[in-house]
Amino acid sequence: MQINPLSDVLGAEVVGVDVANLDDATFAAIHEAFLEHLILVFRDQHLTPDRQIAFSERFGELEIHLSADHLLPENPKIVLISNKMENGRYIGAVSAGDYWHSDLSCQARPNKASFLYARELPNDGGDTGFCNQYKALETLPDELRRQIEGRRAIHTFNRMRNPRVKVPVMYDKADAQMRYSDRAPDDGIHPIIRTHPETGRKALYVSHRFTVGIEDMDEAAARPLLDALFEHQLRADLIYRHKWRPDDMILWDNRCTTHHAYGGIPTGQIRHMHRTTLAGDVPF
Ligand code: SIN
Repeated sequence: MQINPLSDVLGAEVVGVDVANLDDATFAAIHEAFLEHLILVFRDQHLTPDRQIAFSERFGELEIHLSADHLLPENPKIVLISNKMENGRYIGAVSAGDYWHSDLSCQARPNKASFLYARELPNDGGDTGFCNQYKALETLPDELRRQIEGRRAIHTFNRMRNPRVKVPVMYDKADAQMRYSDRAPDDGIHPIIRTHPETGRKALYVSHRFTVGIEDMDEAAARPLLDALFEHQLRADLIYRHKWRPDDMILWDNRCTTHHAYGGIPTGQIRHMHRTTLAGDVPF
């Protein structure tokens, strides 16, 4: 097995390993690399859903995604991220990742980490960006840091309550109400500076997709503060943009990174991915 850094900011590729057949020592080395590099790209994997699930479960308990109509029917621990259509509807979450986020930070217990496996890729487009939130915090100007120390932010699943995001055009009003409001868990309220439970390092923990306010701060004060955090957080030097290769599987740490699907898939081409997601802890 070789572990090669992919950029100066985060990410490493893991080559020469079959994640479905790992001894304990190799798994321990992978786990250590995961904490060091924040995202790992496993090249040349040939995974059935069961094998992807078995590998994912070595890192912890899987969570069944709240998008009930996008789960793999024969194995609901896998959520489909796909623009494939059947009977006039998308079989997967086609808009997943359209805004920068950390997975389901809108829950009381947001997701710890996620695995995305490329089953079918377009010839162009479909990149995923990853942003290092340890570095986002480390490089935050002192004045901004002072304003967020000890504060908690409000995260919502409901896109209709977030002025920074749009409801995807294919959903009419009733569909949007069902997907984003009826299904929404109670808001997650989390420290803006989060401590990683395994490394002890501190990271910025807000995102465009889910963060809509700051606890005990009125909207007029919270909005420009969040805008300043979002602008800083997405500095180009904090981001690694991944161009997928066939049979890549990426594991990312939601506790210290955000990510975004850039889209740009040519019309008529398919991007079909299988995602597994680990349940997480209450952020502190
Ligand atoms: C996601 O946000 O989980 C999906 C990212 C992607 O499809 O690239």
